[in-house]
Amino acid sequence: MKKLGVVLCGLGFGAAFAPIYCAHPDVAFTGLFDPDTARMKEVAQTLGIKRLYGSFQEVLQDGEVDAVHLVTPIPAHEEQAAAVLESGRHCACTVPMALTLSGIRQIARAREKSGKIYMLMETTLYTRQYLNARRMLDAGELGRVQLLRGVHYQDMENWPEYWLGLPPMYYATHAMSPIAAMAGARIERVMCYGSGSMRPALRTRYGNPYPAESALLHFENGLCGEVTRTLFETARTYLEGFYVYGSRASLEWGFKDSDDLTLTRLEGAPHRGFATPSENLRSPAVFANLPEEIRRFTLAQGQYDPTQPEKSLTEGAPGGHHGSHPHLVHEFVRSIVEQRQPAIGFDFACNVSAAGILAHASALAGGKEIEIPRF
Ligand SMILES: NC(=O)c1ccc[n+]([C@@H]2O[C@H](COP(=O)([O-])OP(=O)(O)OC[C@H]3O[C@@H](n4cnc5c(N)ncnc54)[C@H](O)[C@@H]3O)[C@@H](O)[C@H]2O)c1
Repeated sequence: MKKLGVVLCGLGFGAAFAPIYCAHPDVAFTGLFDPDTARMKEVAQTLGIKRLYGSFQEVLQDGEVDAVHLVTPIPAHEEQAAAVLESGRHCACTVPMALTLSGIRQIARAREKSGKIYMLMETTLYTRQYLNARRMLDAGELGRVQLLRGVHYQDMENWPEYWLGLPPMYYATHAMSPIAAMAGARIERVMCYGSGSMRPALRTRYGNPYPAESALLHFENGLCGEVTRTLFETARTYLEGFYVYGSRASLEWGFKDSDDLTLTRLEGAPHRGFATPSENLRSPAVFANLPEEIRRFTLAQGQYDPTQPEKSLTEGAPGGHHGSHPHLVHEFVRSIVEQRQPAIGFDFACNVSAAGILAHASALAGGKEIEIPRF
């Protein structure tokens, strides 16, 4: 299989992925596009990237490009993802997938027509915390899952204009995805309430009155998940968290945006069982499945020591979004090389994205229960 030509579009947060593509052994070249040419040149210069584009159309007309990774402003995702797929390229897209159901349908049609891969680059599904929780769940250590919760608190005051007043559930993917993945079933129905009040200027762009929203998800296998999201005028430092309560043990992550999971195990015979005091559970670094060339990107800058690679990878502080970035790149690239669907499957991406969009619709309708369509 030939090596891939990949172009990164959008170099704010997106710039974090450029050195990873440059180092990946299956990537022949990394190209860049950002309408902010000064920014594009700055990133290109740091990494010695020569392939720069003058427009998004130019990217899609380059016959040597196999895949495009979009890290562009949220309102552009649906049109751009569909255009990438229609041009016959594989597409990775940062979250959220889309802001409308028609946007999801547009992407689904383009994907079906082209037969190319679409991967939602959901960071929370590759954090150390999630990967370790997933391992324990798959090994049966939690027993039967009984209840799930997900939270994401982040204040987007003074972020680019397109954020202002965004309905919290339109960007609920970091709270919803880990619990949807651990539930192991599609979200069938959602109901949601909005909460609080915001100054009028924040209510105009999206017609959204709520700074905070809380939803209940009903999964097809009968499980229930709670999701809470705040976006504006709510005094809370950044926090992503998931809570999975099992019949044998429970894991909670989301008191502080720190490294530790909190583990509580049930001990003794089930009918007289009692829970042990909760303990902090370190989440070991996860890097062994990655090619050596990109393992260092699981760490924060300056933490990798090439003279003691194993030690620094194991003990060093994790990089952005808890070490998830190289895992996302590797999964996207390998799914193309191996001609298979990525681990974050298309149906899953559509399901969590639609659940967020419809959760907000439910909040506007006073908490009405809404079915999630299939795409
Ligand atoms: N954990 C995560 O998964 C995570 C974290 C941060 C941001 N994001 C997502 O990443 C995206 C970008 O976030 P950001 O904070 O960098 O946003 P930003 O608005 O600060 O930066 C976006 C960049 O894209 C460029 N851009 C604008 N229009 C473009 C176009 N048509 N084509 C190519 N580039 C274009 C801008 O010039 C800018 O450099 C958002 O969609 C956000 O939701 C995800």
